Amino acid sequence: MNELTGKNILIGVTGGIAAYKVVEVVSRLKKLGAEVRVVMTRAAAEFVAPRTFQEITKNPVSVEMFAGTVNFHVEHIALANFADVLLIAPATANFLAKAAHGIADDLLTTIVLATTAPMMVAPSMNTRMLEHPATQANLKILENRGVKIIDAEIGLLACGTSGKGRLSEPENICAEIVKFFAPKILEGKKILVTAGGTIEPIDPVRFIGNRSSGKMGYEIAKAAQIYGAEVILISGNAAVDAPDNVKFVKVETAEQMRAAVLAEYETVDAVIMSAAVSDYRVKNVAAQKIKKSNETLTLELVKNPDILKELGQHKSHQLLVGFAAETENVIEYARGKIAEKNLDFIVANDVSQEGAGFSVDTNIASLINRAGDVENLPKMSKAELAERIIRRVAESI
Ligand code: PMT
Repeated sequence: MNELTGKNILIGVTGGIAAYKVVEVVSRLKKLGAEVRVVMTRAAAEFVAPRTFQEITKNPVSVEMFAGTVNFHVEHIALANFADVLLIAPATANFLAKAAHGIADDLLTTIVLATTAPMMVAPSMNTRMLEHPATQANLKILENRGVKIIDAEIGLLACGTSGKGRLSEPENICAEIVKFFAPKILEGKKILVTAGGTIEPIDPVRFIGNRSSGKMGYEIAKAAQIYGAEVILISGNAAVDAPDNVKFVKVETAEQMRAAVLAEYETVDAVIMSAAVSDYRVKNVAAQKIKKSNETLTLELVKNPDILKELGQHKSHQLLVGFAAETENVIEYARGKIAEKNLDFIVANDVSQEGAGFSVDTNIASLINRAGDVENLPKMSKAELAERIIRRVAESI
């Protein structure tokens, strides 16, 4: 079952060039299992043909208030009743003004008044129009009324200028909708996630690192947040952007990660250690850049603290989830780590398999509990695996 199976989403498309991006929003929502219907303003239909949305949604698209019944008997009421959520994307300045002041002069604005469904708006327009006090005041009115504003982004605009006003990316808009429907099973819980790879300096310009991109851990942080948790994300080196709405702590070395984790440990309900922590660090870090005067260079390494093991030794109420990055005897070694680090469960990934482990967008993992029971999962996106892990965590705390 997909995240949005059984959910009815009504999308109002208003007249902006970004209307074409909403085609992708609709397509993504359909893939997530939602039933989608689209209402367009006349101006929107100048940018994208209603037939485009009709083909993707497999539903008629309504534009006119008095064009006869397209979907149901009393159309604006039927569409208003259909919606579990009403998303307006792109939302023009004109639409925001009408919605804020209760003007109902076309099908879409009439539905806005007639529905009791929660509403989200994703504004998109020229920067000056967005920043105009009238638009800002209208956004405030809507926000105070409980409307979720999916903020416009900064970038190159269709009018040739650069600034704030680009429609939020389709991925982002869909994530907001998924978040809206996600059961808040972690409400009131605080989850600490580590991600990325720690790096250990050799001299001021060189370091020892690993291939972790942070993708796995960042997806876990996002999933925990979607399910209602307060999230602390402690990250080493990563190749992806930090998610919104989490407490984000950036570190470099294993020792810095240890300090950051211990500072939060007492206050959290669960720790998920997906970070690839360097097992060793350079004993004597050179104060100046090392010159390549010799044919060989020997670095003496000393062991880093095992953060997770230390957490296991001082565990009181926290649920501890570790990762095991293995290339052989995956299950056996992972079970060993559960015992050695006093974990509640472990996510074992065979990082030698294609489509698993470091850097890629997918993973192939086994979830193993304290009793040693193994759930082998097929190859899936890191986002999906993150959701499975978070659901397990929610069952256990
Ligand atoms: O970031 P990505 O590119 O998306 O890649 C994801 C990943 C491959 C990094 C991730 O899926 C993963 O396997 N993370 C754990 C990597 C690792 O260090 O595994 P390990 O088997 O060496 O360590 C076991 C556990 O102890 C891990 O939870 C680790 O975070 C922790 N550890 C390890 C060493 C150390 N000094 N302190 C620790 O806390």
